[in-house]
Amino acid sequence: MTDQLQSLNRRFALAGHLQFKAGPGGLAVADINNEHAAATVVLPGAHVLSFQPRGQRPVLWASAHSRFESGQPIRGGIPLVWPWFGAHPTDPAKPAHGFARTSLWAVSETAVTSSGATRLRLSLTDSDETRSLWPHPFQLEFTVTVGVDLQVELAMRNVGQSAFTCGAALHSYFAVSDAGRISILGLEGGDYLDKVDGGRRKTQAGPVTIAAETDRIYLDTTAACVIDDPGWGRRIRVAKLGSRSTVVWNPWVDKSRRMADFGDEEYPGMVCVETANAADDVVTVAPAGEHRLQAVIGVVG
Ligand code: BG6
Repeated sequence: MTDQLQSLNRRFALAGHLQFKAGPGGLAVADINNEHAAATVVLPGAHVLSFQPRGQRPVLWASAHSRFESGQPIRGGIPLVWPWFGAHPTDPAKPAHGFARTSLWAVSETAVTSSGATRLRLSLTDSDETRSLWPHPFQLEFTVTVGVDLQVELAMRNVGQSAFTCGAALHSYFAVSDAGRISILGLEGGDYLDKVDGGRRKTQAGPVTIAAETDRIYLDTTAACVIDDPGWGRRIRVAKLGSRSTVVWNPWVDKSRRMADFGDEEYPGMVCVETANAADDVVTVAPAGEHRLQAVIGVVG
């Protein structure tokens, strides 16, 4: 075991709950196992890679073609999107979805909650590297609580002298039996920006179903979504706080082929339902202020 893992285990391991290990690609992970569920959090990127409640199939999807290299995004699980969503608004040379998912985070706390869930907290502050991409001083805290449900929360604090505006997403990839046969409930009647149709604004009629490349930002919605998966006879619920936009994404056939870290035939097995601060839902954080973005993910039968 490396010195880093040994020292993390000395300070933060929790017997019967959490230990640090070498995970895929040798990346340091927190391996969480308790009476309720198992989960893996990759420390670089503060990336929740898996969540599996006892007796259930895995809830999150990850590509068999993902890279697992420090400083590279992981394809699957819950990439943390911050401080901009999608392409940078003015500079296409900057990384898509910001830099939180490719930064090195520090472990700041581990704990067992009164309900027997396991909590892991990671933090990230601005550095020369982040300031070269985004000029603002900040503190991020990412808290993962693994119980019957998975709770993830990104706290964004402004420790500078002037306000900043940021976009964000808990870019969750869910495992489904067949993306073409699921329905996503909770967005009925809402407006969305259709990124596969030049960003046109449209209105959702009925539940969301997927039969082609789908890339949409649903606007003005604080609703929980339910992914109804008749093939596996399960429903995954995604409830949220601090978010008024929800992104639904499936790359379908052609886009899957264009992505090096996504198998050509993998798209039926996943759907992203992302708790976001995107489009007109970017958030402005005043000096000494903070914004919290939270998702609670669980299987509801
Ligand atoms: C979604 C975007 O959130 O993420 C899509 O709406 C994008 O446009 C997808 O393709 C994946 O992004 P990335 O940077 O992880 O390949």
